[in-house]
Amino acid sequence: MTKRATFATRLGVIAATAGSSVGLGNIWRFPYETGQNGGAAFLLVYCICVIVLGLPVMLAEFTIGRSAKANATRTFMKLSPGSYWFIVGFLGIFAAVFIMGFYSVIAGWTLEYVWQSISFGLTGKDPAFFQSAFVEFTSSSFRPIFWTALFLLINYIILSRGVHNGIEKASNILMPLLFVLLIIFGIRSLFLSGTAEGLSFMFHPDFSKIDSGVVLRAMGQAFFSLSLGMGTLITYSSYFSENTSLPKTAVTVASLDTVVAVLAGIVIFPAVFSFGISPSQGPELIFITLPNVFQHMPGAYFWSILFFILITVAALTSTISLCEVAIAFLCEEFGFIRSRATQLLVFICFVMSILCSLSFGALSDVKIFGFTIFDFCDFLASNILLPLGGMLISIYVGWKLDRKFVRNELNNHGKINDWYFPALMICLKYIAPVAIFIIFLSGLGLFK
Ligand code: PFF
Repeated sequence: MTKRATFATRLGVIAATAGSSVGLGNIWRFPYETGQNGGAAFLLVYCICVIVLGLPVMLAEFTIGRSAKANATRTFMKLSPGSYWFIVGFLGIFAAVFIMGFYSVIAGWTLEYVWQSISFGLTGKDPAFFQSAFVEFTSSSFRPIFWTALFLLINYIILSRGVHNGIEKASNILMPLLFVLLIIFGIRSLFLSGTAEGLSFMFHPDFSKIDSGVVLRAMGQAFFSLSLGMGTLITYSSYFSENTSLPKTAVTVASLDTVVAVLAGIVIFPAVFSFGISPSQGPELIFITLPNVFQHMPGAYFWSILFFILITVAALTSTISLCEVAIAFLCEEFGFIRSRATQLLVFICFVMSILCSLSFGALSDVKIFGFTIFDFCDFLASNILLPLGGMLISIYVGWKLDRKFVRNELNNHGKINDWYFPALMICLKYIAPVAIFIIFLSGLGLFK
């Protein structure tokens, strides 16, 4: 058997793991979920979900991933031989394909916007134009699929280069760049006419907006944004070294992820109110608001290109982590060589994403439980599979694994402080499973 890869540096660990977490979930999904679910009230529930559910589940994934050093399915087989827990790993692979299906479509849209920015397609246009151009583009058949295919090809190129040369090196460069740009855009956005209204929408909670549906969506968003519940972080932490501090890494990644989401909100909501766009628009929100912001900035042409490239990049560091779950599985369980596994996976994701893309046009009448194909993939993965996976992982680490074993892994065999351990175990044993279960049932409308 070949030697298992690891991330080479501490920066690499943070950049790759934060790269997985920070993505379209922060810049595209978080603002529109916030917009549709009551603004600041949603943000508040979201932050509570990150602290009480997200961080513990992330630590649980890190613990089992680094100790087993295997793909998500084998991790459970190694730690609990002969049990059925490995099914949790399978669930994750399943979820990865669903997420890749709709995620690659959005990433394809961002590539189209890079192209439109370069070719002056967005220059000098008004808000009404951006709205209609977006609908026209997304409902067409060929063009979005072309960009999605290109995006998947880039994934293939990075993934087939492997963990250290591909994933780690790409993340080290791209993640800091994304951060700097968001700060620049955030500052710009503080000087728009709708800034006060936008910031109040984001930071002034109206508690009457909180209901079980909002809580379900905030929890789903937290799991999605932190890449939890589907084995991505189990797989990535299997590449961590023995010296990596798991709690420090988890807190750093969760904080970076939340800061980026809030920054994205600060960029987007002032613009929404400045240009008379509804904050409760769905997935199209950033594609309509951002071009408007750029029009009002000196050097609009370059900002626009740069920003859409960066969103694509944020998407890329996340999709490579999604694919890695399945690639590690195919290589380690079926002896695939890395490039073959990548080809197979990218092909499956492409088929899924064609269906998702067409659900904005030719297949818009096809409904699954009342959802379009795109919305169904998103809902199933984010609001069902990820929380379910998160619940099972917390039960597994909280109840099934030996407490001493978990503690030893978390404190690097006595080398680092673990004062938080008793509280973590309470979260994993009781709070996370019960909360996820209740939110889940009520969000699905079972208590109405
Ligand atoms: N966390 C990513 C984002 O916010 O865009 C999406 C994601 C990546 C979800 C990896 C799940 C995952 F396993």
